[in-house]
Formats: sequence, structure tokens, C-alpha cells
Amino acid sequence: MSDEVPAPGVDTTVPQVARIWNYWLGGKDNFPVDRQVGDQILRMLPDVARLARASRIYLNRVVWFLTAEAGVRQFIDIGTGLPTADNTHEVAQRAAPESRIVYVDNDPLVLAHAKSLLTSTPEGSTAYVHADLREPERIIEAAAETLDLGEPVALTLMGILEFITDDDEAYAIVRRLMDALAPGSYLALYDGTNVVHGAASDKIVEVWNASGDSPLVLRTPEGIARFFDGLEILPPGIVPVTRWRPEHPADDVDAYGGVGRKL
Ligand SMILES: C[S@@+](CC[C@H](N)C(=O)[O-])C[C@H]1O[C@@H](n2cnc3c(N)ncnc32)[C@H](O)[C@@H]1O
Repeated sequence: MSDEVPAPGVDTTVPQVARIWNYWLGGKDNFPVDRQVGDQILRMLPDVARLARASRIYLNRVVWFLTAEAGVRQFIDIGTGLPTADNTHEVAQRAAPESRIVYVDNDPLVLAHAKSLLTSTPEGSTAYVHADLREPERIIEAAAETLDLGEPVALTLMGILEFITDDDEAYAIVRRLMDALAPGSYLALYDGTNVVHGAASDKIVEVWNASGDSPLVLRTPEGIARFFDGLEILPPGIVPVTRWRPEHPADDVDAYGGVGRKL
């Protein structure tokens, strides 16, 4: 278990979002410091565990839709997270084995586990780039080694933009990434809100920001929709992730997302 042998560069004294997310999803790649904050937050708002699972199911539905229905064959998945069941390449390559995926994350433990993300089909390929979302040009340059940027790409930013707390910076990063992609490309994302749980969600942000070194901010659904400025937003729009083309109805969670197409 990660508890006993931390990978190089992994700080086990400060909680990290990739590891807490892994804990909430039932994974084993986390440390006592992550579980302590993860449990503290769950005690304050037990629905967070459902939010984590619902967001992951939404991610899978979106990737399946983009591959099987929209015909996308190339993905840049920034804020990948620790490998779990049904990672982006597994879902995409189930629909279209020739799909190519570039994963990006800035967490050293995700880097240490990246080999689980590099299990491509022979027809497709996967690559892992250890980089920060704040370096969009570097990410695009690295992605061009695996993808044909003259063809449409789906950019997925799932649960990561909330860690870019400055609005202007966050909108500018997404714009710079989308500007580098061909017409017919897609933007797919979800981000945290306080629509459902109000003050309880705000309180969690306070606890998180006091405990770690990667502060986060919640945005309104309108603020999340602004990431899609200039894109055609596909039905059903920017909605709670449980309402985006669900297979089964479920109560709303405090994560809103959607998919937009570059014309
Ligand atoms: C909440 S997790 C989401 C994981 C996965 N996308 C999902 O939806 O299940 C956020 C991920 O974004 C990564 N992350 C946060 N800030 C980042 C940044 N500035 N650059 C790159 N990755 C970042 C974290 O390391 C973590 O793996």
C-alpha cells in the first residue's frame, strides 16, 4: 500500500487532492493524512462520497458519448487523477480501439502510477505528461507528440478547474488550450458548486483550504458555463453531473458539467 512505501517526490505530510479523491472512490492509493481530511469532510457532508462517484460515472458517460456518438478519436485528459476502474483510455478504446489519449496531471503519485494508464490497445496509444494546467503551451506541445492536432480532439478538464482559483487565469487557460485545437474539437468538464448544499459546501472549501497546499474555489453554474464561451454547448447544457444524459435518474450533486463543440 502507498502507506508503507511512498514513491519518490511524494509528500505524505500534506493532504493531496488526487489521493483524497482516490480515498473517496474506494481506492488504496492514499495516506493517513489524506484519510484524516477525507473523513473530516465526509463527517461534515456525507454526500461528498456520492458526488465523487457520480462525477466519475459522468466522466465515463461523457467519454463514451464523445467516442461512440460524436466520433472523437483523440483526447487530452488534464487532471487525470490516480488510475481507477474505467480510465478515459479504457472507455474510449472500448468504443473505438484506435483512440489516442494524452493524460496530464501534476501529482507525483499519479506519475508513479502512470504505467497503469499506458495500457493501450495495439491500434491506439496513450501517453502521460507530468505537467501543470497552468502551462497550457507545454501541454499542447507534449500532446502533439501523440495526437494529430490538425484533427478534432476532446479536451477533458474533470474536477480540476476549481484548483485555478483566479477566474481570469482559469478562463484564459481554457481559451488558450481550445485555441490550439482544430474546429470540431470538444471541451468537456465538471467543476464544484454550492447549489445543492449551500453553506455546507462552502464550509468544506474552508476546511480544505486550511489543510492543504492546493486551495480551491467553487463556481456558480453561470461561472462554469463561461468556460464554454464561443463554443456550441450540447444538450442538456451545463447541469448537475447526475443530469447529463443519465442512464438512471439520481439526485443533483454539487458538481456541474457539460460538453461544448468548437465550430
Ligand atoms: C478531483 S481530482 C479529479 C480526477 C479525475 N479527473 C476524476 O474526475 O475522477 C483532480 C485532479 O486534478 C489534479 N490537479 C489539480 N490541480 C492541477 C494542476 N494545476 N495541474 C495539473 N493537475 C492538477 C490533481 O492532482 C487530481 O488528480
